[in-house]
Amino acid sequence: MQVCRTISDGRKAVATFRANAETVGLVPTMGFLHAGHMELVKTAKAKADRVVVTIFVNPTQFGEAADLDSYPRDEARDLAMLQDAGVDMVLIPEVSDVYPEGDETIVETTRMANMLHGEVRPGHFRGVTTVVARLFNFVQPDVACFGEKDYQQLQVIKRMTRDLAFPIDIIGVPIVREADGLAMSSRNVRLTAEDRAAALVISQSLDAAQAVTDKSVDSLRDTIRKTINAEPRATIRGLDIVEAETLSDISGPLTTPTAIMLSVEFGGILLLDQRVIQP
Ligand code: PAJ
Repeated sequence: MQVCRTISDGRKAVATFRANAETVGLVPTMGFLHAGHMELVKTAKAKADRVVVTIFVNPTQFGEAADLDSYPRDEARDLAMLQDAGVDMVLIPEVSDVYPEGDETIVETTRMANMLHGEVRPGHFRGVTTVVARLFNFVQPDVACFGEKDYQQLQVIKRMTRDLAFPIDIIGVPIVREADGLAMSSRNVRLTAEDRAAALVISQSLDAAQAVTDKSVDSLRDTIRKTINAEPRATIRGLDIVEAETLSDISGPLTTPTAIMLSVEFGGILLLDQRVIQP
């Protein structure tokens, strides 16, 4: 496994794959890897001859410097996991290489970036698309994998890729869960034992919504609210029920695939989950 620390070295490594007519799959990450990230790697391996993983804690998608500074990092462990998984190249660029001095170019999905999660985190999705567009340009992969866990991020990236006509297949990978159903996240370790046990209610509420027989936006919302409000440790911070691809508002009985995007707080820790429900 090659480890490249400059864009120029990364490009050289990719050029050697291309010289052999090999296809390239990209998995962008911010490191501190867990089984969710590794599932993206597995998917990329199945879809392309070579797999490139990027580790880059992207400053432009963080609202506050404190969040950026406290983002967990463990490069040695990440590299060992990627090596075990048979990754071909890891690109770990410097901030000054990704954002050269005097940088002034942004990429933004103007509608989708500023709704839902983007409304409470101004500039977040603009930071994500700006960095992902650059990573796409550095690596020029055939396919790129993103988790359905960050559902709005996945839809934003799909739209950017379509609008800018990047010749890249964007693959959404289903959420990897702990044995009890909690979506895997680097935040889970910060939960107290009591909150960790109570957090099970998130995936249970989505299961309950899926099992509703008379599916409408209201019946889904009521089911989620009732299930989560029965758990005193949980506070719903976001519950959006939207058209699955455009994230547009809908109402009444379901007529199209519908995404439930849920964020629930446990003792200051915000956990995300989502489910797409068919009409
Ligand atoms: P990061 O949070 O490191 O996540 C990298 C990828 O792993 C994302 O596509 C995310 O959706 C996916 N992922 C995380 N937990 C998952 C789980 N439990 N199951 C399946 N996939 C999971 O998301 C980012 O980094 C950044 O915004 C990035 C796209 C790298 C741009 O900076």
